[in-house]
Amino acid sequence: MNLRMRIADTRDTCAWSRTTHSAAETRTLGARLAKRLKPGDVVLLWGDLGSGKTTLAQGICHGLEVVAWANSPTFTLINEYDGRLADGQPVRVYHCDFYRLRDSDELNTLALDEVFYGDGVALVEWPKIAEEWLPQEAIRVHLTRLGPHKRQIDIIKLIGQTEEDRCSTRMA
Ligand SMILES: Nc1ncnc2c1ncn2[C@@H]1O[C@H](COP(=O)(O)OP(=O)(O)O)[C@@H](O)[C@H]1O
Ligand SMILES: [Mg+2]
Repeated sequence: MNLRMRIADTRDTCAWSRTTHSAAETRTLGARLAKRLKPGDVVLLWGDLGSGKTTLAQGICHGLEVVAWANSPTFTLINEYDGRLADGQPVRVYHCDFYRLRDSDELNTLALDEVFYGDGVALVEWPKIAEEWLPQEAIRVHLTRLGPHKRQIDIIKLIGQTEEDRCSTRMA
């Protein structure tokens, strides 16, 4: 058994699920999630177009005290902000949107090491194309449209043994 497999075996999963009934409620959920984030966290936002990924990212940025939120990094692939974690520590926030990216080679031109393996917080819409760059221990959020204003939001965190304390704190 190689080391990578053994690490995977000792991992545990931590998951919870919420249903929201408005964009504002999704933003509030995002802001609450933001209070749990630590330096180096990567949040993957999975879901169809219109499922609420950008809305949730906006809420997370609000929770991280980002002031100048730009709607979506449509043309830049990654927007960067200055934010603040719950403990007051300044943090770099990266909002990635890979929707328009067709060729993963384009990712070679970006400083993804810094985005995914640095001390900042990364929020990633359409993460599939960047899969080989992504860290194993990401927070995975799955958004599902259940109706015009109803969204199911599932949050899964894969954790190593050393991070059990982080899993045990759930959102209220
Ligand atoms: N409960 C909800 N959560 C999030 N967005 C909602 C909700 N109800 C309605 N909406 C609307 O759905 C759209 C979601 O868009 P957006 O967040 O850009 O999705 P995505 O980034 O996944 O394509 C917005 O127009 C938002 O106002
Ligand atoms: Mg979006």
